[in-house]
Amino acid sequence: PSSGLADRLHRPLRDLRISVTDRCNFRCVYCMPKEIFGRDFQFRERSELLTFEEIERLAGIAVSLGVRKLRITGGEPLLRRGIETLIEKLAALRTPEGYEVDLALTTNGSVLPLKAQALADAGLKRVTVSLDSLREERFQAINDVNFSVARVLDGIDAARDAGLGPIKVNAVIKRGMNDDEIVELADYFRATGDTLRFIEYMDVGASNGWRLDEVVPSAEIVERVNAVWPLEPMAPAHPGETAKRWSYLDGAGEIGVISSVTNAFCGGCTRARVSAEGKLFTCLFATEGTDLRALLRDGSNDDAVTAALAGVWRGRDDRYSELRAALTPLGGNPERIEMSYIGG
Ligand code: GTP
Ligand code: 5AD
Ligand code: SF4
Ligand code: SF4
Repeated sequence: PSSGLADRLHRPLRDLRISVTDRCNFRCVYCMPKEIFGRDFQFRERSELLTFEEIERLAGIAVSLGVRKLRITGGEPLLRRGIETLIEKLAALRTPEGYEVDLALTTNGSVLPLKAQALADAGLKRVTVSLDSLREERFQAINDVNFSVARVLDGIDAARDAGLGPIKVNAVIKRGMNDDEIVELADYFRATGDTLRFIEYMDVGASNGWRLDEVVPSAEIVERVNAVWPLEPMAPAHPGETAKRWSYLDGAGEIGVISSVTNAFCGGCTRARVSAEGKLFTCLFATEGTDLRALLRDGSNDDAVTAALAGVWRGRDDRYSELRAALTPLGGNPERIEMSYIGG
């Protein structure tokens, strides 16, 4: 029964983030810097990736163990050919009680103008779009492939028109990169029905050269917005939420802040992650995963896969963000998996 499974810190398994590709058409400077993710970077071969059938089976097993939210990530998930077919399969999953599962996708928005309608038709409920700047020149410099912000904004509109709204928009704020745009970003999404969420720049992976002084604390972000449009704190929609929500006193909607650095939320973390090649990770900051692909490919039955997944979860004691403060020196652990590999 789903209610029984908990990790060593008594956290249930509720969310599964599934990466469907480690590739991306952007080279965001803080995520996939070109010096590392250049022409000769070895991405996973197609044969190494879980097939849609394998993902469907694994997701079904996770749902039988208590997962209620599936989030498709990448790299850039919309680059995976035929992604709509996977969405269809996942949208058909039901909980043991017969309910639908929350199905979402995190994307850079670049192909939403082309794909939003097909994704909605396939059964996708909502999308989260990453957008760190509204200024054309700056946006193109951040993604480092000269991709136009106008096109991403079109993608957000296309997603809304297709019924994938309200859209969540994720903006990573990095000091010196875009911290002067906090109020502009808030202004653009105020009163649209969409929710802008500011993300503290995190020390994920090993290639972004993270430094603590580049983090803009969420308290500062909230203060800057509050100074222009007063805000009040909102109650969490569910426990273990990544974002702390704030609503505009004038009724223009809400913003969120994701404070992995200054206010860790490991206590309620119910998230597991599967990489595109089928490794299970119990923390965003993990250094090692458990190979589930081997089990999926060696004829093991569902009971065996279920037992493996449950076993890993029972042994989980990760709370990296909470421990970060105690770990020195900060950043630069060469073993840590990359954000683009595990999808955030
Ligand atoms: P919803 O709340 O369902 O909209 O999604 P989400 O916030 O879980 O997912 P999203 O992909 O929008 O992630 C937003 C940001 O939070 C990204 O930068 C993620 O890397 C980060 N994030 C998500 N889950 C975790 C987590 O468990 N730990 C940490 N440290 N960061 C996370
Ligand atoms: N810190 C915080 N967020 C990051 N993302 C990528 N790298 C980082 C980082 N170092 C974000 C992406 C996307 C989400 C899945 O994770 O911009 O919005
Ligand atoms: Fe940028 Fe997201 Fe691609 Fe990383 S995965 S390079 S954050 S678009
Ligand atoms: Fe969960 Fe690890 Fe993030 Fe903490 S740092 S919230 S345990 S994924």
